[in-house]
Amino acid sequence: MSKFASALVEWQKQHGRRGLPWQGTRDPYRIWLSEVMLQQTQVAAVIPYYERFLRRFPSIEALASASEDEVLQLWSGLGYYARGRNLHAAAKAVVARGSFPGTAAEIEELPGIGRSTAAAIAAFAFGERAAILDGNVKRVLARCFGIEGWPGEKAVEEALWGRANRLLPQNEIEAYTQALMDLGASVCTRTPKCSACPVSRNCSARRQGRTAEIPAPRPRRALPQKCVTWLLLLNRGQVLLEKRPAPGIWGGLWSFPEAPVNDVGDYCAAKLGCEILTKKKLAGLEHGFTHFRLQIRPLLCHVAKTPQLESPGRLWIGIGQARDAAVPAPVRKLLCRDFLHLLATR
Ligand code: ADE
Repeated sequence: MSKFASALVEWQKQHGRRGLPWQGTRDPYRIWLSEVMLQQTQVAAVIPYYERFLRRFPSIEALASASEDEVLQLWSGLGYYARGRNLHAAAKAVVARGSFPGTAAEIEELPGIGRSTAAAIAAFAFGERAAILDGNVKRVLARCFGIEGWPGEKAVEEALWGRANRLLPQNEIEAYTQALMDLGASVCTRTPKCSACPVSRNCSARRQGRTAEIPAPRPRRALPQKCVTWLLLLNRGQVLLEKRPAPGIWGGLWSFPEAPVNDVGDYCAAKLGCEILTKKKLAGLEHGFTHFRLQIRPLLCHVAKTPQLESPGRLWIGIGQARDAAVPAPVRKLLCRDFLHLLATR
């Protein structure tokens, strides 16, 4: 085993994270679920979602036979909902093929699973020698082996994957893989704690005093802003929700109708089947996506329903029930934050 790998495995035994709910199992379903939830989301935030999800869907078969609405409802609040939709689609694919794929290469064929996640699942579930390379691991390897440039450029990516593959130990792949993840998450962070690092003595960036420069930061563009008005339409303690189209942001989730720039009244009458009785602007909120920032302006309207219009993608629903539905985080926030306004029914 390389010095790098053995130092990491030793460190993992003493300092790595242990006792997490997805450790100590070889069940590929449980491992897969954890790896998908842990993409872009921190361990502490994932744990309650993970446990709740498994209580409701204890097996791939249970997940495959659920409705997408129910899957998204349990995902609601974790963000990046494509992960939830892909998970559901992948569960169906696994059930259709008869068993969970047994190698990283086959796992990568499932919807929503990239090369690094497939490798992590194969390493933890089957002990396969497969290299992971998520954002944290890229930082560790770039620093340790002095791989310069922005990870994202093709040549840098290739150098990192090459290094990740060459470093793989013959044994203890599970401990090694977990060690790399834990080191990247807890020690080799943006401002690294080099005194706690098992490989700092040989770390190229550390020896050159350049941990702040390696890896090179992503070239940043200012994120564009988008602005929407959300209609919180209220009638007898119920609000109107619309199912958002997929693909698209929050596809498949239930949200408040978006108002056109003008003619909110006409829009409500013609498209939503209600007449506005009172209008009140509520405090706005912001939601960040990877590619833009969304400014949300909520407009609370008491409405009278006109009899026609009940369409399949729209639903009048009690406020309490709406909070527990598959809704994006800012919708839930409004349903909770402006609860008293919303309760003031007429
Ligand atoms: N991030 C991604 N996978 C992880 C895992 N298995 N443990 C902790 N953090 C992770």
